[in-house]
Amino acid sequence: PGMNAAIRAITRRALQHGIEVKGILGGYSGLIADNMIDLTARRVSNISYMGGTIIYSDRCPEFKTEAGMREAIANCKRFGIDGIVTIGGDGTFRGATDMTEHGVPCVGLPGTIDNDITSTDFSIGFDTAVNTTIEMVDRLRDTCESHARCNVVEVMGRDAGDIALQTAIAVGASAVAIKEIPFDEAGMIEELKNSREKGKRNFIIIVSEGLPGYGEKLTGLIPEKTGIETRFARPAHVVRGGSPTLRDRMLGSEMGAAAVEALLEGKSNIVLCEQKGEITTMDIGKALILDRMYKDKLKDGDLQKFDAETVAWMREFCAEKFAAFKKMYDLSIEISK
Ligand code: F6P
Repeated sequence: PGMNAAIRAITRRALQHGIEVKGILGGYSGLIADNMIDLTARRVSNISYMGGTIIYSDRCPEFKTEAGMREAIANCKRFGIDGIVTIGGDGTFRGATDMTEHGVPCVGLPGTIDNDITSTDFSIGFDTAVNTTIEMVDRLRDTCESHARCNVVEVMGRDAGDIALQTAIAVGASAVAIKEIPFDEAGMIEELKNSREKGKRNFIIIVSEGLPGYGEKLTGLIPEKTGIETRFARPAHVVRGGSPTLRDRMLGSEMGAAAVEALLEGKSNIVLCEQKGEITTMDIGKALILDRMYKDKLKDGDLQKFDAETVAWMREFCAEKFAAFKKMYDLSIEISK
């Protein structure tokens, strides 16, 4: 959610500069298959409220091959494509780097509900997905209160616990289990027992999908250890759709317009970011390695491309980001008791 607002902003801003805009259907696969539509001011009107993306999306393994890349570049030349704005996550950004290296300037927008792109505080779609998750859990809470039950809810986010953590705080969950920080299972069981003794009827436990199978495990364990009847729920892809929130519409619009300006200024191979409330940019090469550093997935030689000062800056960036995440996690615990 929010991609359509970005498409609208990109189109309108480019048209204002006298630049024609094409929507590449399906993303990179559309570029290879030469599957494009003209995006006019009218075509992009009344789309900001829609979920999904009017130009579709898919995964394109062919794009990673030399032949796929050759075809994509040839199509860019054939159709006079001078620059591309790509929306997605790290796979999309790697493709953008390859295209830029082959002579087609690209600028990336961070689009994923998972909020797992290290260079930006918020990615397009995250806010809507969390708000939808919150709504689902609030609904589950009603039945938990009526029936004096616990509901374990597994939420999306791939390996990232952002949706889980922010949902847990917002709904007042009893506990949240995420991949990034060890979970105190025994402590949770004790808390549930104590709270039940004091008369609490409903309990919500949020589990990130980054811990596969753990939600189901807790659903069996909780009644066994506490006697509290427990159900399991997984909203799954439901939270990926729907009308975007104000925040996602704003982020898509601001980043979309900024991406066009960046291309016009001759910038490329950058990703748009929101950091501390400001829209800014980062070199894609740096953003991808920063991401691996944050996720502890650095490969041999990854840091060799950067000078010592940049590496130190990356380490500090990751440390600060994790500290902010940990602070939020601590808050979730403090206010769950
Ligand atoms: O990255 C977005 C996301 O929805 C994740 O939260 C989830 O793990 C994954 O995509 C699901 O992928 P698919 O739609 O291919 O099942």
